[in-house]
Amino acid sequence: ASASEEKDLVIIGGGVAGYVAAIKAGQEGLKVACIEKRGTLGGTCLNVGCIPSKSLLNNSHLYHQILHDSKNRGIEVGEVKLNLETFMKAKETAVTGLTKGVEFLLKKNGAEYIKGTGSFINENEIKVELNDGGESVIRGKNILIATGSEATPFPGLTIDEQRVVTSTGAIALQKVPETMTVIGGGIIGLEMASVWSRLGAKVTVVEFLGQIGGPGMDTEISKATQRILKKQGIEFKLNTKVVSGDTSSELVKLDVDAAKGGKPESIDSEVVLVAIGRRPYTQGLGLENIGLETDERGRVIIDSEYRTKIPHIRCIGDVTFGPMLAHKAEEEAVAVVEYIAKGHGHVNYGCIPSVMYTHPEVAWVGQSEQDLKAQNIPYKIGTFPFSANSRAKTNLDSEGLVKILADPETDRLLGAHIVGPGAGEMIAEATLALEYGASSEDIARTCHAHPTLAEAFKEAAMATYDKAIHF
Ligand code: FAD
Ligand code: NAI
Repeated sequence: ASASEEKDLVIIGGGVAGYVAAIKAGQEGLKVACIEKRGTLGGTCLNVGCIPSKSLLNNSHLYHQILHDSKNRGIEVGEVKLNLETFMKAKETAVTGLTKGVEFLLKKNGAEYIKGTGSFINENEIKVELNDGGESVIRGKNILIATGSEATPFPGLTIDEQRVVTSTGAIALQKVPETMTVIGGGIIGLEMASVWSRLGAKVTVVEFLGQIGGPGMDTEISKATQRILKKQGIEFKLNTKVVSGDTSSELVKLDVDAAKGGKPESIDSEVVLVAIGRRPYTQGLGLENIGLETDERGRVIIDSEYRTKIPHIRCIGDVTFGPMLAHKAEEEAVAVVEYIAKGHGHVNYGCIPSVMYTHPEVAWVGQSEQDLKAQNIPYKIGTFPFSANSRAKTNLDSEGLVKILADPETDRLLGAHIVGPGAGEMIAEATLALEYGASSEDIARTCHAHPTLAEAFKEAAMATYDKAIHF
């Protein structure tokens, strides 16, 4: 970009929020530029988040299955060896392919990609410190903040990404540690615990709350999931708080305190993963130069049209309100560009699915049973276990259940919660049903192919308004 060039839209951050907005803006015929400092597009999700973690999850599952779940299927293999270097290369191939693909899509849609760090000079001008050296200034009629988030550090424990790691270090370890302690039993904690436990580490998860998966996960599903993961060898310490850490010895030492009257103890491990949440990232953005403030959790404050208090500066994705999920950022990206180009846009925040990619997967959409109870909203429940689903039985992979919550009067779907094989794909059907205001009977009377895992979802719906056939 040459100095004083003006765009219809300047986007700061080329993560899922930023790059999708850039493509959409190009499609709408806007003159758009996207500034990204990382050197590659795709942000946390493509570079160090969703995509690399799923590569490791998929391949570690395969490895674990070959080791522990093939003989009983009549498949006898010889010596099975892990080549961690190639294992990590497969991850890098996936990441590079996708980030390059995104760069191509920006080009294809006429969106300019500027490699550098952006910061506000004033309400219309952004200074870019170019990655290749030098500086430029770009003007925007509209500006979109999409700078994402970073791992929340644990006070007193210095992250070196070798022994004390965030998810970024955890997806790039050069050797399988003998022991790993995970601080925080949320989604990152459990996905990474699964990867390294499958590869041979002895993993302990320390979680502050009384349940794993974070407070959003339905408690019944969380308990079922914990039982399954425990059988896989992951150890859990719930209602337990990490108080302090010490890295001065060969092993990292954590002092933990059981919340309810338990004895304090210390845990030694080769690697500690800090996974206690993520926080909005606005460092170096120069928000102070334009008088924009963040809330007590560091989030950029916006209205329902993603406007900050300076109306032509908007903000989406992890750096503002709502769940820190890639598909949420993507929905917002399309909506915010529609607001800019056409004056209207829409995201249904009541209908954003969550998926945890452990094995089995855990997925949910809408309200949990504890949410409904807390709000005194009446509900009825239908459940169906995968142990009664023919496909799951055939696959010798039948742990878990589907749980549906519906309005007792209207039968309208209120929430769907699944732990089981393929839950992450199955939740798309529940999300569509919820979005369209379907009743459990609508789902149950929709013909589902046999034999499929999705029949478990249909039968749970049958059990919600009437009775399941196969259980
Ligand atoms: P980000 O992806 O963080 O992108 C922001 C970008 O802005 C970054 O690339 C940053 O370099 C750039 N930037 C910041 N400041 C500046 C500046 N001043 N100038 C230029 N560039 C700047 N979500 C899911 O939905 N599914 C998953 O399976 C999933 N797995 C995850 C696994 C892990 C290990 C992690 C950490 C996260 C995962 N997430 C997942 C969450 C997901 O990655 C985020 O919700 C998503 O990346 C948010 O997109 P974003 O564009 O708002 O922010
Ligand atoms: P999280 O908020 O999901 O979980 C953090 C957990 O740490 C909570 O259960 C919390 O109670 C616990 N905790 C906090 N402080 C603690 C302490 N001192 N001691 C013990 N436990 C403590 O955050 P997480 O897992 O770090 O993930 C960050 C974000 O990334 C999430 O918003 C998530 O949505 C997103 N993500 C999404 C994925 C997906 O969709 N599959 C995968 C990975 C991340």
